[in-house]
Amino acid sequence: MTALNFDGRVVIVTGAGRGLGRAHALLLAAKGAQVVVADSGGGIDGGGTSHTPADAVAGEITDAGGRAVACHASVADERGAASIVEAALDAYGRVDAVVNNAGIHDPGLFEDLTADQFRAMLDVHYLGTVFVTKAAWPHLVESGSGRVVNTISEAMLGGIPELSSYGAAKGAVFGLTRNLATEGPKYGIGVNAIAPRALTRLSAAHSDKVAAVMSMTSEVMDQINASMPPELCAPAAAFLAHPSCLLNGEVLQIGMGAVSRIAVVCSRGFFKEGITAEDIAGNLDAIMDTRDPTLTTVTAPTM
Ligand code: NAI
Repeated sequence: MTALNFDGRVVIVTGAGRGLGRAHALLLAAKGAQVVVADSGGGIDGGGTSHTPADAVAGEITDAGGRAVACHASVADERGAASIVEAALDAYGRVDAVVNNAGIHDPGLFEDLTADQFRAMLDVHYLGTVFVTKAAWPHLVESGSGRVVNTISEAMLGGIPELSSYGAAKGAVFGLTRNLATEGPKYGIGVNAIAPRALTRLSAAHSDKVAAVMSMTSEVMDQINASMPPELCAPAAAFLAHPSCLLNGEVLQIGMGAVSRIAVVCSRGFFKEGITAEDIAGNLDAIMDTRDPTLTTVTAPTM
């Protein structure tokens, strides 16, 4: 297999000062990419700012002989997102890929979450992805082989407690990924997402609740956590950011030594003219049976 080299390519990684983003940035730089390490450096719920995380990771890369610049703007601010792209243009004159990874975490029961907490999730995860990608888009078009790698979460599918605001924001990023994927191919742009599984500041804050819902002891959870360093997720971000990757509108779940596809399927269903509510009640087994499904795919020309 030919090595996936990023020589001459410029990649923006948001939220690259910690956790998964740091792992993506280090791997991309080691593979030759010129990297913008974008991180506003705040608290886990998005409060505050600090230059330290982005500066430290950019320093790690340059100390190892790679090329990186730090940017401290917030992706949630449209002007800040534009300045992240400007940092890439100022330093390297082009943008070939964007890894939208910046994220925050502020769980709570639906009945307790405020409208502001819901908005903050959308601002960072969804609008942050929109703003950075939109600012980068003309440059991705110019690249001719632009790549967008978004970050979603299994939480968008439900099942993890107290994540109605976070999971819904990730659902929005999934919808954006699928729909933008219909517009990219005519410019040679591929738009995909990863759904990572890693022990980071963000996931550590929730691991007790995950353990409880899965009836795991804290010892078992500790073992699982030890098996999920963020570095195991970076190869999916690098693969999807590479010009040789022709996937479009797909989601790769990655972590703990495994990689798989997350796909949306539709059951074969039940057919009849003039379907009634009673027909649905009477044919629920057939309607819900996903053993022989159709796969919903992105309606865009193949890359
Ligand atoms: P983390 O908390 O370690 O890192 C997130 C980084 O994003 C932080 O350095 C933070 O300063 C930065 N950030 C937050 N808001 C920002 C903003 N407005 N502008 C710029 N930077 C900002 O968390 P982790 O786990 O590395 O998360 C990375 C992404 O992966 C997030 O989108 C998260 O939702 C997602 N994810 C993580 C999973 C996991 O298992 N750790 C599972 C599924 C998704």
